[in-house]
Amino acid sequence: MSQKPANLLVLPGDGVGPEVLLQCRRVMDWFSTHRALPLTIDEAIVGGASIDLHGVPIRPDVLQKARAADAILFGAVGGEKWDHLPLAQRPEASILTLRRALDLYANVRPAKCYSTLVAFSSLKPEIVAGLDLVIVREGTSGVYFGTPRGRETSKTGEVFAYDNQYYSTSQIERVCHFAFALAGQRKGRLCSVDKANVMETGALWREVFNRVAKAYPDIAISHMYADNCAMQLVRNPKQFDVIVTDNLFGDILSDCAAMLTGSLGMLPSASIGTLRADGQRCALYEPVHGSAPDIAGHNIANPLAMILSFAMCLRLSLARPREADELEKAVEQILSDGKMTADLCGPDQSPTSTTGIGDALLEALNANAIKK
Ligand code: IPM
Ligand code: MG
Repeated sequence: MSQKPANLLVLPGDGVGPEVLLQCRRVMDWFSTHRALPLTIDEAIVGGASIDLHGVPIRPDVLQKARAADAILFGAVGGEKWDHLPLAQRPEASILTLRRALDLYANVRPAKCYSTLVAFSSLKPEIVAGLDLVIVREGTSGVYFGTPRGRETSKTGEVFAYDNQYYSTSQIERVCHFAFALAGQRKGRLCSVDKANVMETGALWREVFNRVAKAYPDIAISHMYADNCAMQLVRNPKQFDVIVTDNLFGDILSDCAAMLTGSLGMLPSASIGTLRADGQRCALYEPVHGSAPDIAGHNIANPLAMILSFAMCLRLSLARPREADELEKAVEQILSDGKMTADLCGPDQSPTSTTGIGDALLEALNANAIKK
């Protein structure tokens, strides 16, 4: 029986986005050919590239394609060239629009320290060896999207600006349920992070989390203020299994967690939405690193965060956990063979290029496939 192809949308974006997605596509093609994984891959322009070509960060037809896709692979957006534009017209608006329009409320950001990379973390090896935590960041609300927001001039002529941190009960509930379910598949520990000591939204967050917790008696819960969590992440990150937090705290804490693993270039992410009528969830996969314009075009960017995001896609959208394991294992293998981009290399090591990592990964996948 022939299997219906999964319909994937690839959005390379700006800076290193296209380079890392190119290597990811080679890996996608490999799985398509060697693992009977029929994929229909469409590609579209977003971010600064779309501003240059069409005058907007994301066009309505691209948004429409994204809604219909089984999964979206997103590179990165942004760059100095567009920094002068008003916020709503900047490249970043494309990813924010996608998260909001597709209701991608659970942004899953795992931070895993590979044994071969322990030495590359800025923290002591014993602090990060074996680290394996996940941050579940709320992705559709909070201060990123709250209204009113804006900039005005007071009667005295002073310019002021304001953003609005907003959370409703149902928005908190659904992301908490997601995080509890995830903790149940892992070590069974969930830490909720807020500023309930200062913010109204924080107080509501905590109340709702505690209410949701009643449905998950097997999960060990804890609460932490966001500032303390930032400190605990660098003091003793292995105390965490799953962290659930709001949009802004999640943004900040996930960069912090990323660096524990040795490089921001290693961190994948998945943004998962509500169930569609066809029973599929909208989902977008992207590396946590940004567009890194300073290194773009030099074939030196680390494509592994993008490729590991595809591994998450295999597991979460394509129901191919074995293939996801296979890909993650190949990544571990090339790292332990010393194949690393410049962000991970010590002073005596010669770095592998972006394309070189793609080559090495395909070689490892082929070699392992023969061994099977
Ligand atoms: C991230 C990024 C985005 C965010 C930017 C590019 C809008 O930093 O995904 O963490 O702030 O959410
Ligand atoms: Mg960020």
